[in-house]
Amino acid sequence: MDNKIKIEILENGPMLVHGDLEVKSNAGNVEAPKKVTAFCRCGASQNKPFCDGKHRKIEFCG
Ligand code: FES
Repeated sequence: MDNKIKIEILENGPMLVHGDLEVKSNAGNVEAPKKVTAFCRCGASQNKPFCDGKHRKIEFCG
């Protein structure tokens, strides 16, 4: 089994992390998302650190 984590930066969109991971918030909550997790790069998500698709609405470039 391949346990490597793969990180993919989408043009004008989120950073995708492929693989099993845990995300711990500064409040100590731990989420164990699915096989692919999208992290916000634009700063507009209402569900940080995760992408909620808002980058399209603000026409994020990066
Ligand atoms: S990158 Fe998708 S909401 Fe920020």
